[in-house]
Amino acid sequence: MAVLVTGGAGYIGSHMVLTLLEAGHEVVVLDNLSNASQESLRRVELLAGKAPVFIKGDIRDRHCLDALFAEHSISDVLHFAGLKSVGESVAEPLRYYENNVAGSLTLCQAMAAAGVYRLVFSSSATVYGDGHPMPIHEGLPTGRPANPYGHSKLMVEDVLRDLAKADEHWSIALLRYFNPVGAHESGRIGEDPNGIPNNLVPFIAQVAVGRRDTLSVFGNDYPTPDGTGVRDYIHVMDLVDGHLAAMQVLTSQRGVSTWNLGTGRGYSVLEMIKAFETVSGQHVSYKVADRREGDVAECWADPTLARQELGWEAMRGLEEMLADTWRWQQANPQGYSD
Ligand code: NAD
Ligand code: UD1
Repeated sequence: MAVLVTGGAGYIGSHMVLTLLEAGHEVVVLDNLSNASQESLRRVELLAGKAPVFIKGDIRDRHCLDALFAEHSISDVLHFAGLKSVGESVAEPLRYYENNVAGSLTLCQAMAAAGVYRLVFSSSATVYGDGHPMPIHEGLPTGRPANPYGHSKLMVEDVLRDLAKADEHWSIALLRYFNPVGAHESGRIGEDPNGIPNNLVPFIAQVAVGRRDTLSVFGNDYPTPDGTGVRDYIHVMDLVDGHLAAMQVLTSQRGVSTWNLGTGRGYSVLEMIKAFETVSGQHVSYKVADRREGDVAECWADPTLARQELGWEAMRGLEEMLADTWRWQQANPQGYSD
């Protein structure tokens, strides 16, 4: 039996594929390479000493999915494939809903037709919306996400909840990620954003390596200790370990389960800059700019449920997250196109 990883050539997916191969799983990757390079999987193969099966294809393509399930004996699907840029989703909502929502529906239809009912879905803390007291636990109601990207995640969660209610075969995990950062400790695979990074840590790393001049700090007048936004950054290798734990638990339970994947600790933008300077020995130039629309002051997880039910908790601290980011960035200043 093999594990199907949709979006397995991407940032989180490639780290997942490596971890699965190292744990002895057979892996099939389905990725349309819309936001990834196959080079990530070539490097995964070098690190793991074995390769996943790679299929260049789209989760919206039912024929492709049917052929995949007919050819490979799949036990579990880890569903990372999707578009993830918040700004793009505001400009192109149809593309986001089609890719993220319709794509997930087609995937589930093909899974049901093939008799594959174990699914782990990459959701996001963005589904909680704004206005909750910190830390955020899974019992809180979901809110109204501030953009089509976030909304597409909530819509898929709703579909999966309805699906599991209607058909008891399904075992589904909704994993709500906080802020994934970092890279594999080898520095061979990591995050390779297209164009100007939207997210904080890739931007800081590109300033430190000399690819960009100055970081804009989006607001220093939030009601937080130093006025800048606070987030729960989680090492990507801890995050993928959380998926392994969820896969294991799903083998013995039906229905839908929801787990936060975060560390339970928040850091401000200024703390992140300072910590990055310390691990890299580089100066990170920044200027304070206006707040970014849609940002919240603070967001961090209550990770208790995952600890209790998955036996999982994040093990890597901030220094390790940033040291691993820096190792990847230094070795690959232009990402996979180096
Ligand atoms: P990524 O863009 O690096 O990876 C997504 C992969 O999916 C890419 O390789 C892309 O080519 C592929 N893909 C996109 N649409 C596809 C389609 N229709 N068919 C097949 N392949 C397709 O993103 P990532 O950071 O690795 O994120 C993985 C998942 O986790 C996404 O669903 C994302 O929304 C979710 N997530 C990410 C974060 C984060 O901060 N990175 C936070 C919360 C949730
Ligand atoms: C963002 C998305 C969120 C998505 C997540 C994926 C928005 C509004 N939210 O979350 O939907 O799930 O990425 O990781 O885009 N910051 C700066 N300067 C920068 C970049 C960021 O000051 O150049 C600040 C932000 O204001 C925030 C913190 O850094 O306070 C983290 O930002 P980011 O890495 O973009 O993550 P989120 O905003 O939490």
